[in-house]
Amino acid sequence: MVLSTGSKKIKTAVFISGTGSNLKSLLKFSKLKKSPISIEMIVSNNPKSKGLNFGKIYKIRKKIFNFKKQASAEKEILLKLEKNKINLICLAGFMKILSKNFILNFKGQILNIHPSLLPKYKGLNTHEKAIRNKDEYSGCTVHFVNSKVDSGKIIIQKKVKIKKDDTPKSLAKKILYQEHKLYPKAILKISSL
Ligand code: GRF
Repeated sequence: MVLSTGSKKIKTAVFISGTGSNLKSLLKFSKLKKSPISIEMIVSNNPKSKGLNFGKIYKIRKKIFNFKKQASAEKEILLKLEKNKINLICLAGFMKILSKNFILNFKGQILNIHPSLLPKYKGLNTHEKAIRNKDEYSGCTVHFVNSKVDSGKIIIQKKVKIKKDDTPKSLAKKILYQEHKLYPKAILKISSL
């Protein structure tokens, strides 16, 4: 990659479905001088996403799309992204699987954060799986998005030790803390390549 920064910041949209703690860390990061991104849009499939509140706080336009009709939702999103000259999409707890067609339209410009050390534990319930398998470590991964779920090229990972008394909840908390630092690092990494 791949992201040409030039002198201007990369116009970015963050896609969320829930709490939006990664969105919050990206918003904070985007305000730093060293940040190559400016967040211009928050997209959600869920009108109840808590993370949408950050749109209010940071005065960023929010768009909610109904994914029951995914094809038309994606068409509308693509139009909005184009209108706002978005060059990078960061998926941050976005619980819908984007279509191949959508991904092709943004080839090499969509990132995702996943709470496991990929390629281990794609999909859901990663913390349960790591604990059940008595893994010594789990962690998080930022990767490019391709048409296969959680399978695109890995940008950066952070390992987190699993303690004997960890539960899926305690592990999720430790990993989420690392996610908040890892996503900005991944963006810095790809923008300097
Ligand atoms: C994070 O663990 C992320 O890795 C996963 O969903 C969770 C979203 O958390 N894809 P938040 O909405 O950013 O707080």
